[in-house]
Amino acid sequence: MPQRRTVVRWGLTAALGVAVPGATGVLASARAASRAAPGSPVIFGPRAAAATPANAFTVPLPVPAVLRPASTAGGVDRYEIRQKPGRQALLPGRETEIWGYNGTFPGPTIVARRGRPVEVTHRNELAVPTVVHLHGGVVAADSDGFPTDLVLPSGVPVDPRWTEHARHGVAGVAADRRTYRYPNAQPAATLWYHDHRMGFSGPQQYRGLAGFYLLGDDIEETLPLPRDGRDLPLMIADRTFGPDGSLFYPSRDPTLREPGVTMAYHHSGMLGDTITVNGVAWPAAEVDAVLYRLRLLNASNARAYELRLDPPPPGGSGLVQIGSDAGLLPRPVRHDSLVISPGERYDVLVDFSAYPLGSQVVLANTAGEGATRYVMRFDVVRRGRDEARIPPALAPDPGPPPAGATADRQFSLFSGPDGTGLPALINLKSYDTARIDARPVLGSTEIWDITADPTHPAHVHLGHFRVLRRDGGPPLPQDGGVKDTVFVPQGGVRIAVTFGGFRGKYVFHCHNLEHGDAGMMANLEVV
Ligand code: C2O
Ligand code: CU
Ligand code: CU
Repeated sequence: MPQRRTVVRWGLTAALGVAVPGATGVLASARAASRAAPGSPVIFGPRAAAATPANAFTVPLPVPAVLRPASTAGGVDRYEIRQKPGRQALLPGRETEIWGYNGTFPGPTIVARRGRPVEVTHRNELAVPTVVHLHGGVVAADSDGFPTDLVLPSGVPVDPRWTEHARHGVAGVAADRRTYRYPNAQPAATLWYHDHRMGFSGPQQYRGLAGFYLLGDDIEETLPLPRDGRDLPLMIADRTFGPDGSLFYPSRDPTLREPGVTMAYHHSGMLGDTITVNGVAWPAAEVDAVLYRLRLLNASNARAYELRLDPPPPGGSGLVQIGSDAGLLPRPVRHDSLVISPGERYDVLVDFSAYPLGSQVVLANTAGEGATRYVMRFDVVRRGRDEARIPPALAPDPGPPPAGATADRQFSLFSGPDGTGLPALINLKSYDTARIDARPVLGSTEIWDITADPTHPAHVHLGHFRVLRRDGGPPLPQDGGVKDTVFVPQGGVRIAVTFGGFRGKYVFHCHNLEHGDAGMMANLEVV
């Protein structure tokens, strides 16, 4: 097992000192989904030596810069982003080549306001086509980043393989730039934007094409929540590095003309041995002994985490969830731990005043093994004045999902047993850009039963949903609120999904990016 070897080399055998609760279905699934690919030590072994845990918690947590609009004329915030290579210190004292929005990983944060539209013009200065998707956004189909709505690289000859599926797209292929329009007619939420090129979302996000999009509204603003430096977006992403500090990704074709990863990663997806937060391996953040808001985003390709604070605060329940994928909850929900699968977000409050000054609080991943059990550390270094508190009520309660579902659909997410090399399928079909797999009616709510073999993070574009059932029983406390991505265990989930806003062609897919790239994707046409 590569991760065992990692443990020995890095001397990280010390337990985190937290009790691992009994493996419920979801925890067991999270653990299974975060295990390294079998048969990969040849790849992992020498490369794992690049990062040393001796350096963990030494680099301060960076916070991605907020992007300034190029124009605000006419009540529209217009942004310009150049997609280009960059060099960045992901590991202490080393430079890694990445691809980034404006050349950084994470990309710059876009701060938006409900009711105020945003337009982002992306210019592709990379060597391959790209697509930008606003994850969680209620966006017209021609701005949603349909996987074949490519933006071709500027000044690079067009490879005919790039455009072979283009005619089944929505907005078509653009020469070197595209302007995406986001109406922001939805509640405050932690959204994110990332690459979505068909067959290559995995390698392209992995190289760094992901950023935060923080949507605010009046309701959120009236709440006494932590702000500014005490409102921390945390993009959690695992990576593996070569001895020279380069990013390792198991593409069969590193030039990204033919999709696919090597067999060792085909089933698991890309699982890295190093955990980065906001583009730095195992960072540390000095915090005041006050309330903080952490916007947890799992931007990993394939790894699910079970996050908890170590040590927990006295009395436990240190993660006070105030928001889910698509917005604030009606009231806070307290957790000891949260399972977060790729694509999901949890907005939580953490009260560092519960810890003595000088405390070192690890954000731990109890679904991980070895070094992947560590995410980052908070060092409680000083007292501070605090106007924030945990509000007893947050956003208006949306109530139960609208009654009178217009359709009941079944979706199976299948990748079969490990080691078999079976394809990644939805309802036993591989993704076909031309085929429409479901036609929900605009404004309707549908009941979907999603099953998984073995486990998969399911994500719906445009539609937002409530989790009604999990594993045949009631949903978990963390399933509450309005969501766009959900961890599907083998026992399945039932969701009530509402399609509001726009008609048109969108996708539904597994957010294990290697699975999505391999065909675990379907088309929805909202009619
Ligand atoms: Cu976050 Cu279709 O993706
Ligand atoms: Cu999405
Ligand atoms: Cu999957």
